[in-house]
Amino acid sequence: MDPKPTPQEDPALLAAFEARIAAGESIEPKDWMPERYRRQLTRMMSQHAHSEVVGMLPEGNWITRAPSLRRKMSLIAKVQDEAGHGLYIYCGTETLGVDRFDLYRQLLDGTAKYSSIFNYPTLAWADMGVIGWLVDGAAIVNQTVLAKTSYGPYARAMVRICKEENFHKRQGYELCATLAAGTPAQRAMLQDSVNRFWWPALMMFGPSDTDSPNSAELLRWRVKRKTNDELRQRFVNLTVPQAQAIGVTLPDPDLRFDPETKNWVFGAIDWSEFYEVIKGNGPCNQERLAARNRAHDEGRWVREAATAHQAKQAARSTEAA
Ligand code: 3HC
Repeated sequence: MDPKPTPQEDPALLAAFEARIAAGESIEPKDWMPERYRRQLTRMMSQHAHSEVVGMLPEGNWITRAPSLRRKMSLIAKVQDEAGHGLYIYCGTETLGVDRFDLYRQLLDGTAKYSSIFNYPTLAWADMGVIGWLVDGAAIVNQTVLAKTSYGPYARAMVRICKEENFHKRQGYELCATLAAGTPAQRAMLQDSVNRFWWPALMMFGPSDTDSPNSAELLRWRVKRKTNDELRQRFVNLTVPQAQAIGVTLPDPDLRFDPETKNWVFGAIDWSEFYEVIKGNGPCNQERLAARNRAHDEGRWVREAATAHQAKQAARSTEAA
């Protein structure tokens, strides 16, 4: 988050803001908001937008290798959606007075975070199904709740994005079900993919509540409406029956149903892995950054052409005036 110290807020304005939040009102771009609220939203939304853009890379890797035209079209549509989600959320950050090119720069120079899950390699076709099912499934659990966030533009963006994420999850789960009903080799490929993505998918929800430095403030300001652990548990409860339905084993020997709480109790998450990945030491962090920088460099001519066209248009309208 912005390292500059946050200014001392006017107590009356702050009290009025807190009262609006407590009343469940939606905060809009032109409304007064504490600088810290603005910075927290900028932090979350920029990381979310970066996640969408970087998230295209693991899947884009398989578009040319899809096993059928139908699978190829579905994967292209999904990757295209992710690009749109990124641009949509970058627009949302601009309502907070942020220049999206500053955010791009942070992503490209490696100082910005994006979802840890995209720093894992996609080694087999089954990964396309498992990402749709587990990764987009986790995103849906998170983002359906974020659709009730106190910042209006973000909440509204989530409504539209969740509709598309649901298509992503369905096409992914259908791909997994097809493999699960396939040959022993296809079933083995699917199981290996689930083994690789299950725990990183649980890490998508962030550190445990006791280790989350941002959650308390975000919950108080109704930016987050549920805690990391509550959302993680909801995801596990939804996903275990889905795994059982297609005969996939989740790689957690401690997984068991608690009839009291009606929760699927899961084993310990390897938080050292999580913190290594978000520090930049995951399997694909360097590769993802290099790919984003390469795309940015290769797209320079597009930006230059658009700027030249804009200047020509401006000159024409000045002449015409
Ligand atoms: N990957 C990378 N960094 C993570 C992380 C993850 N999975 N989970 C937490 N972190 C970081 C946080 O950014 C924070 O670091 P920072 O203070 O330097 O930003 C630190 O770890 C501590 O975590 P907190 O729990 O305190 O942070 P938050 O309160 O912000 O909670 C979050 C983390 C749950 C990811 C929350 O930021 C959030 O809900 N963000 C919006 C949703 C989002 O970003 N989703 C991305 C999923 S991918 C996606 O949607 C693409 C789709 O196509 C699948």
